[in-house]
Parts: sequence; C-alpha cells; structure tokens
Amino acid sequence: MYKKSFIYLMICMFSAVLVTAAEDNCMTCHADFEDDDGPSHMISKDVHIQKGLGCVDCHGGDASLDDMDDVRNSKGYKGVPSYREVPKFCASCHSDAAYMHEHNPAMPTDQFEKYKTSFHGKQLLKKGDTNVANCISCHSVHQINTAKLPHSSTHPLNITKTCGKCHSDSNLMGKYGLEATPVADYKESVHGQALFERGDLSAPTCNDCHGNHGAAPPGVTSLIAVCGTCHAVESELFNSSPHKEAYEENDFPMCMTCHSNHKILKPEDKWVGTEEPALCIECHSVDDGTKGIETAAGISVALKSLVKAHAEAQVVLDEAIEKGMATTDAEFSMKELQQSLIQTRTKLHSFNLDSVLPLAEQGMKQAAKVKETSAGLIEEFYFRRKGLGVTSLIFTILVIGLYLVIRKVEKK
Ligand code: HEC
Ligand code: HEC
Ligand code: HEC
Ligand code: HEC
Ligand code: HEC
Ligand code: HEC
Ligand code: HEC
Ligand code: HEC
Ligand code: HEC
Repeated sequence: MYKKSFIYLMICMFSAVLVTAAEDNCMTCHADFEDDDGPSHMISKDVHIQKGLGCVDCHGGDASLDDMDDVRNSKGYKGVPSYREVPKFCASCHSDAAYMHEHNPAMPTDQFEKYKTSFHGKQLLKKGDTNVANCISCHSVHQINTAKLPHSSTHPLNITKTCGKCHSDSNLMGKYGLEATPVADYKESVHGQALFERGDLSAPTCNDCHGNHGAAPPGVTSLIAVCGTCHAVESELFNSSPHKEAYEENDFPMCMTCHSNHKILKPEDKWVGTEEPALCIECHSVDDGTKGIETAAGISVALKSLVKAHAEAQVVLDEAIEKGMATTDAEFSMKELQQSLIQTRTKLHSFNLDSVLPLAEQGMKQAAKVKETSAGLIEEFYFRRKGLGVTSLIFTILVIGLYLVIRKVEKK
C-alpha cells in the first residue's frame, strides 16, 4: 500500500519537473540563440527570476509554445514596452498593493505615483521626452535588483554612474541648460570622499538628496532643507539665527549659499571673519560697522585664540607624554578641549556672538587646564630626576663610608 503511493508520488513529482521544464520554452529557446549579454543570460542576476518569476510574468505569452510567432499571437503577449510605456509596464505589478503584498508585505507600492511628480516623470509622461530617466534607466533591465547588492545599478557605490550616464553628458544636459558637472563636483566633495575613499555608506550620494522616485526624498518638502536630515544641529541653529528670515526674503538657499550643493568642501576657520577668503564679506561690507561684521570679527578672533591655545596645549601635553608621565587626566581634558573646538565651529551657525563666546571660553579654560596639568607633570619629572641624583649621591657617600669603616675594622 505504502509502496504503491510512494511510486505514485514519485511519478507526480517527476512529471511536475518535466512540465515545468517544458513550460520554460521562452528561456530555453532564447538561451540557445542569444549572446552572453542577451536577456536570457543576464537575467540570472535579476531579482524577479531569483524570486521565482519568469519571462512571461513581464512579457506575457504562452510559455508552452515552441515558436516565437505563435508566442506573439498567444493570449496576453505584451511584447516589449516603448520607452514611454515602461513606467506603466513596471507599475502593473509594483502599484498593485494586493499583488505586492502577497510577495513581500514590506515593499512600498508608491514608486509610480512618486515618479509622476519628479522632473523625469513629468517630462516623459506629459511631454513624451525620452531623454529623461524612466524606471529602467536607473534600474537596468534583466538585471534589476535591490540596492543592497553590490552589482545593482542602485547600490550607493554605483549611483553616480547610473545618474552620470545622462548627467555627465554635456551635449544632452546642454539642451536643458543644465551643467554636466554634478558627478565630478560630487566626487571632490566631503561626501564623495567619505563614500568612495572611506566606504562610509552614511554619506549621501545623488539619490539621498534628490530622492529615488519623487522630486525630493521622503520627509523633505523642499530640497533646500535636505541637509538638515543629517546635519540637524547646524539646521536648528540656522533656523533660529538672524539669517533665516534674511535668506528667505532674498531667496538664498540656506546651506548651499555658503557650502554649495555638490562640491561641498572641508570647512576652514578662515571662512569666517572680515578678510579674504571669509564668506561673511561676500554680503556684509567690511567698513559699515553693522552687527554682521562685528559678529564675523568676534567669532573669528575667538576661533583663532582657541586654535592657538589648543596647539600650545598639545605641545606641552606631548612633552609630558614623551617623558613617560601618567598623563591620563591631561589627555582627558584634551579630549574635552577638542570637543569644545568642534562645538564652537558648529555653533557659529547661530551667527550670534553671545552663543559662540561661552563655548570658546569654556575651551580656553580647558586649554589652560591641559597646559597646567602637563606642565605640572613635566616639573615633577625634573624634580624626580633631581631627587634621584641627590639620593644616589647620598647612597654613594654611604657606601664609601661603610667601606672605610670595614677597612678600619679589618686593620684592627
Ligand atoms: C523557439 C524559440 C523561441 C521561443 C520558444 C520564444 N522566443 Fe521569444 N524570440 C525568439 C526569437 C528568435 C526572437 C527574435 C525575433 C526576431 O528578431 O525576429 C524573439 C523575440 C522575443 C522578444 C522581442 C520582441 C518581439 O516580439 O520580437 C520578446 C519580448 C520575446 N521573444 C519574449 C519571449 C517570451 C516571453 C517567450 C515565452 C512565452 C518567448 N519569447 C519564447 C525565439 C523564441
Ligand atoms: C521585470 C520584467 C522583465 C522580465 C522578467 C523580463 N523582461 Fe525582457 N524586457 C523587459 C523590459 C522593460 C524590456 C524593454 C527594454 C528596453 O526598452 O530597452 C524588455 C526587453 C526585452 C527584449 C527586447 C530588447 C532586448 O533587450 O533584447 C527581449 C528579447 C526580452 N526582453 C526577452 C526577455 C526574456 C527572454 C526574458 C526571460 C528570460 C525576459 N525578457 C524577462 C522586462 C522584463
Ligand atoms: C509581474 C510583476 C512584476 C513586474 C511587471 C515588475 N516587477 Fe519588479 N518585482 C516584482 C516582485 C514580485 C518582486 C520581488 C518582491 C520580493 O519578493 O521582495 C520585484 C522586485 C523588484 C525590485 C527589487 C526591490 C527591492 O529592493 O527588494 C525592483 C528594483 C523592481 N522589482 C523593479 C522593477 C522594474 C524597474 C520593473 C519594470 C521594468 C519591474 N520591477 C517589473 C514584480 C514585478
Ligand atoms: C532616477 C532613478 C530612478 C527611477 C527613474 C526609478 N527608480 Fe526605483 N529606485 C531607485 C533607487 C536609487 C532605489 C533604491 C533606493 C535605496 O537605496 O533603497 C530604487 C528603489 C526601487 C524599489 C525598491 C523599493 C523602494 O521603493 O525603495 C522598487 C520596487 C523600484 N525602485 C521600482 C521602480 C519603478 C517601478 C520605477 C518606475 C515607475 C522606478 N523604480 C523608477 C531609482 C530610480
Ligand atoms: C536617461 C537619462 C537620465 C538619467 C539616468 C537620470 N537623469 Fe536626471 N534628468 C535627465 C534629463 C534629460 C533632465 C532634464 C529634464 C528637464 O530639465 O526638463 C533631468 C533632470 C534632472 C533633475 C532636475 C534638474 C533641474 O531642471 O533642476 C534632477 C534633480 C535630476 N535629473 C536628478 C537625477 C538623479 C539624482 C539621477 C540618478 C538617480 C538621474 N537624474 C538620472 C536625464 C536623466
Ligand atoms: C548633499 C546633497 C546633494 C547630493 C549628494 C547631490 N545633490 Fe544635486 N542638488 C542638491 C541641491 C540642494 C540642489 C539645488 C536644488 C535647487 O536649487 O532647488 C541640487 C541640484 C541638482 C541638479 C539641478 C541643476 C544644478 O546643477 O543645479 C541636478 C541635475 C543634480 N543636482 C543632480 C545630481 C547628481 C547627478 C548627483 C550625484 C552625483 C547629485 N545631484 C548629488 C543636492 C545634492
Ligand atoms: C544622508 C546624510 C547627509 C546629508 C543629506 C548631507 N550630509 Fe553632509 N555629511 C554627512 C556625513 C556622514 C558627513 C561626514 C563625512 C566625513 O566623515 O567626513 C558629512 C560631512 C559634511 C561636511 C563636512 C564636515 C566636516 O567637519 O568636515 C559638510 C560641510 C557637510 N556635510 C555639509 C552638508 C550640506 C551643505 C548638505 C546639504 C546640501 C549635506 N551636508 C547633506 C551626511 C549628510
Ligand atoms: C553664512 C555662511 C554659512 C551658512 C549659511 C552655513 N554654514 Fe556651515 N559653515 C560655515 C563656516 C564659516 C564654517 C566653518 C567653521 C570652521 O571650520 O571654522 C561652516 C562649517 C560647517 C560644518 C562643519 C563644522 C560642523 O558644524 O561640524 C558643517 C557640517 C556645516 N557647516 C553644515 C552646514 C549646514 C547643514 C548648513 C545649513 C543649515 C550650513 N552649514 C549653513 C558657514 C556657513
Ligand atoms: C549670502 C549673503 C550672506 C552671507 C554670506 C553672510 N550673511 Fe549675514 N546676513 C545677510 C543678510 C541679508 C542679513 C540681514 C540684513 C543685515 O542685517 O545686513 C544678515 C544678517 C546677519 C546678522 C544679523 C545682523 C543684525 O543686525 O542683527 C549677523 C550677526 C550676520 N549676518 C553674521 C554673518 C556672519 C558671521 C557671516 C559669515 C560667517 C555672514 N553673516 C555671512 C547675508 C549674509
């Protein structure tokens, strides 16, 4: 009885395998005549195939047929979508919440809706402009995958290449009055260097600031506010500074005005002050005696003094370390001082001298403490060395004395 049903089961399983193989005519026939870069070969890296979908799920048609003409005439064959039709083609599944939920409940289904609001989407769908990006210009085709995989066109390390296909093409960008420099500029920026040179995936690349599908990333109503999603402290300070209102009135974008958007360079202390290359004098004239200039000068002086005190403290601390003294306390104060220096630079975004000065003064006190503690240790070093000299002198006199006493006793 058991044996019989086992054989029956085996037959069922075997025929199931045969039927599946027989049904996969699309793949087998295409693999026969296509080159290595043809759809049937490339597709092993595609998430759709990896999750069990096949050619028919996208292209339609009957996979049990063994002739392409028959396939074209079979029910549901969609063929190849035109450039403009691609978003709708992908959205037939990706905007179908019930369908996507069955496959992966966590997958958002808003890509097409958001895409319609983007520069690319508006231009393609409303104006039929096929120079802009559709789903597959960013995701590739037949090699589509999640951004987590290194080979994916949407992986953070590949995004500049994906956007750069078009945005580094000066002929194409020229037609729209756009620069072809974002990628090159970005690569020189603090963010580009953090990403490419240190592999720091928390540094933003194109889509972190511009969004994947919509006009701006989630949670940001205007691209102007995008820096604040990561640099919250500077943003808050800016928002309560006198510049907030002034910038809004003049249409100056809040962070970009001083830092630019793509070629964001490492900030330097000389950017603040009343002499070239300070940023402040681009808008505040040096001799107008306004609060703006007074503030620029005040912050600059405070920063310069703190940097000088920091350098001096470092020299004394280094000497104490070199002399092998127990510098734990001094090193701890040094860390606090470094923190104050960083905080002072951040705080300048309040553009208010009364907020910056207390931090700078705190730093000056810490610098004094480092110097004092380290100098104390150095003094102790010399004191001990002197002490050691005196001790060994006394010891030598004692030994000689003892020797003389012993000789005297021996003579007796
Ligand atoms: C017997 C071989 C064979 C089978 C089976 C087959 N194809 Fe094709 N297919 C071809 C060939 C050859 C071409 C290229 C046609 C040409 O250049 O005229 C083609 C072209 C295509 C194209 C390009 C658009 C078009 O209409 O020309 C698509 C899409 C396609 N096949 C999908 C499928 C799908 C989906 C299946 C399964 C349902 C399938 N094919 C089954 C041989 C096959
Ligand atoms: C996730 C959906 C999807 C799947 C799965 C898929 N395709 Fe495609 N395929 C497309 C899209 C979109 C295009 C249009 C590409 C373009 O416009 O450049 C396309 C284009 C094609 C073309 C014509 C252009 C070319 O690249 O040669 C062929 C042939 C083709 N697919 C065959 C297949 C075969 C065979 C399979 C299964 C091995 C398959 N596709 C699986 C979406 C898919
Ligand atoms: C037949 C339905 C269908 C079509 C058509 C389709 N997809 Fe998919 N797509 C899926 C399914 C199902 C998954 C896998 C979901 C899962 O299990 O994680 C998926 C996964 C993806 C993923 C991976 C998402 C991630 O981060 O994990 C991307 C990207 C994607 N599709 C893009 C596209 C693009 C672009 C097109 C159009 C060329 C397209 N899809 C067409 C059904 C489809
Ligand atoms: C301008 C480039 C671009 C275009 C156009 C684009 N995508 Fe994406 N898409 C991305 C990037 C980048 C990601 C990865 C985000 C990340 O880092 O997780 C993504 C992620 C996805 C995901 C994973 C889930 C999610 O929402 O994060 C799906 C599914 C997807 N895209 C489908 C589509 C579909 C469908 C279209 C067309 C309507 C489309 N994409 C158009 C760049 C694009
Ligand atoms: C297939 C080519 C192509 C790809 C890929 C592409 N873009 Fe574009 N993009 C364009 C074109 C063309 C325009 C100009 C549209 C216009 O001005 O009407 C544009 C416009 C833009 C704009 C608006 C510029 C303005 O007018 O202010 C932004 C922002 C943008 N793209 C960002 C991106 C990002 C980020 C990526 C990669 C994730 C990307 N694009 C990928 C072709 C592309
Ligand atoms: C740190 C955030 C950030 C990153 C990273 C970033 N952008 Fe931008 N981008 C902006 C801001 C902000 C604007 C100005 C928007 C405005 O003026 O409304 C902008 C403007 C643009 C524009 C409009 C035209 C122009 O040049 O002013 C394009 C196109 C563009 N970016 C493409 C890209 C591409 C491609 C990348 C990746 C190499 C990229 N961006 C990386 C923030 C960023
Ligand atoms: C997705 C998060 C993110 C966004 C958005 C972002 N940044 Fe950054 N930014 C970082 C990270 C991470 C670093 C640190 C890189 C490093 O290790 O030096 C950084 C570094 C910087 C630095 C250098 C700081 C230093 O002390 O060297 C400046 C200046 C800067 N960002 C300005 C901006 C501006 C302006 C914008 C908006 C146009 C922006 N950032 C948007 C994450 C972000
Ligand atoms: C009026 C010009 C100006 C504006 C506007 C401005 N910054 Fe700065 N920022 C500076 C100067 C000057 C420094 C250099 C500080 C130093 O190194 O002494 C700096 C330094 C920085 C640093 C590195 C120091 C730190 O805080 O860690 C970051 C990050 C930064 N800015 C982010 C931003 C962000 C985000 C915005 C928008 C909310 C912004 N900045 C707006 C002038 C400006
Ligand atoms: C892009 C132009 C621009 C830059 C760069 C700039 N400011 Fe301003 N700032 C303004 C405008 C506009 C106002 C409002 C009008 C005014 O008071 O001059 C203002 C106002 C101020 C005020 C308030 C003045 C008051 O009367 O209350 C201070 C303080 C200030 N800025 C400091 C600075 C410092 C420090 C820097 C350099 C780090 C700087 N600003 C860089 C444009 C700028």
